[in-house]
Amino acid sequence: MSDFFERRLSGYDEHMLANIDGAEEFYSFTARLLPDHQGCSILDLGCGTGLELERYFALCPTARVTGIDLSHGMLDALESKFPDKDIRLICGSYFDLPFGVDEFDAAVSVESLHHFTMDEKIPLYSKLCEALKDGGYFILTDYFAESEEDEKLCRQKLQQLKAEQGISDSGFYHYDTPLTAEHECEALKKAGFSSVVVLKSWGPTSIIKAAK
Ligand SMILES: C[S@@+](CC[C@H](N)C(=O)[O-])C[C@H]1O[C@@H](n2cnc3c(N)ncnc32)[C@H](O)[C@@H]1O
Repeated sequence: MSDFFERRLSGYDEHMLANIDGAEEFYSFTARLLPDHQGCSILDLGCGTGLELERYFALCPTARVTGIDLSHGMLDALESKFPDKDIRLICGSYFDLPFGVDEFDAAVSVESLHHFTMDEKIPLYSKLCEALKDGGYFILTDYFAESEEDEKLCRQKLQQLKAEQGISDSGFYHYDTPLTAEHECEALKKAGFSSVVVLKSWGPTSIIKAAK
């Protein structure tokens, strides 16, 4: 996965903004949903080059942001954009890293989590829920399957591509396998979030708010 994003780094921001339906709007919309009080603490899962953080820091320049990403190159690009901001960047997988307990006012993830199954997401979301302070919440802006049938077809296609290329079941191959928004909400509720709502959609991208 990190190799894939290292290769796409050049022109990445322009590509995202020009080629994903509604991107110009949903990055700003996502930023506006995050807390904006002095020194609030935010966790960004799969922060990449920080497209969501550009909009967010414009609204809340004093935020303290922890960003996690697998790709060194993406994190280097992010760091160079915000030399004067309070950012802690961690290169690694959000599945493996500890997030702490009662640490963050909110968490956000944009266009990063659409490769994983419900079984993989539930423990991740439980860890995330625990890392949020009371009253904290998670804003998930991602790409979702239109129907259960599409969700299944994407999974089957991934299995087929892996088999053709001799990649084991546990090996990673970059092919989008989004859940439906309904299944994503189910995963968040099973992980312990108390209220989960889809706030808005732009084509296949929706924003889900999950409150602790
Ligand atoms: C399409 S980019 C989105 C980046 C940024 N949030 C944005 O919207 O521009 C997906 C990012 O998620 C990161 N990513 C994917 N799986 C990850 C994982 N398990 N742990 C940490 N980062 C991950 C990738 O390295 C990549 O930078």
